[in-house]
Amino acid sequence: MTDGEFTMAVNIDLVGKSAIVTGGGRGIGRETALLLAQAGACLTIADLDETSAKSVADEIQSKGGRAIAFKTDVTSAESTQAMARAALDAHGRIDILVNNAAVWTTKLFKDMTPQDYERDIRVTLFGTLNSSRAVLDAMTAQKYGRIVNLISDAGRIGEPYLSVYSAAKGGVAAFTKAFAKEVGRFNITVNGVAPGICNTPGAQGFIEGAGGAEKLAKAYPLRRLAEPIDIANVILFLASDMSAYMTGQIFSASGGYTTIG
Ligand SMILES: NC(=O)c1ccc[n+]([C@@H]2O[C@H](COP(=O)([O-])OP(=O)(O)OC[C@H]3O[C@@H](n4cnc5c(N)ncnc54)[C@H](O)[C@@H]3O)[C@@H](O)[C@H]2O)c1
Repeated sequence: MTDGEFTMAVNIDLVGKSAIVTGGGRGIGRETALLLAQAGACLTIADLDETSAKSVADEIQSKGGRAIAFKTDVTSAESTQAMARAALDAHGRIDILVNNAAVWTTKLFKDMTPQDYERDIRVTLFGTLNSSRAVLDAMTAQKYGRIVNLISDAGRIGEPYLSVYSAAKGGVAAFTKAFAKEVGRFNITVNGVAPGICNTPGAQGFIEGAGGAEKLAKAYPLRRLAEPIDIANVILFLASDMSAYMTGQIFSASGGYTTIG
């Protein structure tokens, strides 16, 4: 070791990598797409809301990055296959998939209709399965892949008023572990991030219904709710080669709220 060897910053370099972020039009997905692009990746912003997906892709391009927007409904296997084809056509490969799109109904289970819980499970669980299946052949052929699944503390410890969403995320957590064991031999890692409550458009109803951010933050050792960048930073790590020897793991990014193994 010579003098000055520690003077360089450690970089997470995703130059040459192609990443798909489902639900990338807003919230955690948007922040993740911007951060992966900042690290050098080419992005496919896949969202049911084409307008928001396009605005994120435009923002990345305006900052000198490469990105396409692709209207995707993750509940449809055909739509996620078209998403994967669009990513391959635009960027030539698929290295990273962030399974971020999800919806949740905030009600007591007794008040939920079968339509409510079918929707929660179709987007949150089936969406993750459809998107993962859609990228699998490309990642297997490349012998490289990083799949990051958004889970939730709700799926780890159970959350009242979010029972079906908890079930769907519990399913995503189990899938993360099992799928990781199937695809490790192809140098594909599959990991999960479990945020606590995060300040996103999708979470506003839940935050307000529970008495506001300040009140909720009192339950968190770090005494604040998450901002999207808190979650995106963990996703970036799991999407990079910094995490190359970790697979089948679920990491809570919840300000210390959830401290389970
Ligand atoms: N915000 C939180 O407090 C929180 C906590 C724990 C986990 N999470 C998880 O983080 C992820 C992102 O959450 P968020 O709060 O940023 O969500 P959000 O509601 O703000 O954004 C979700 C995005 O997904 C898109 N989407 C919805 N249905 C879709 C479909 N069928 N196909 C494609 N796209 C679809 C929406 O258009 C939207 O752009 C989710 O998986 C969520 O479960 C969030």
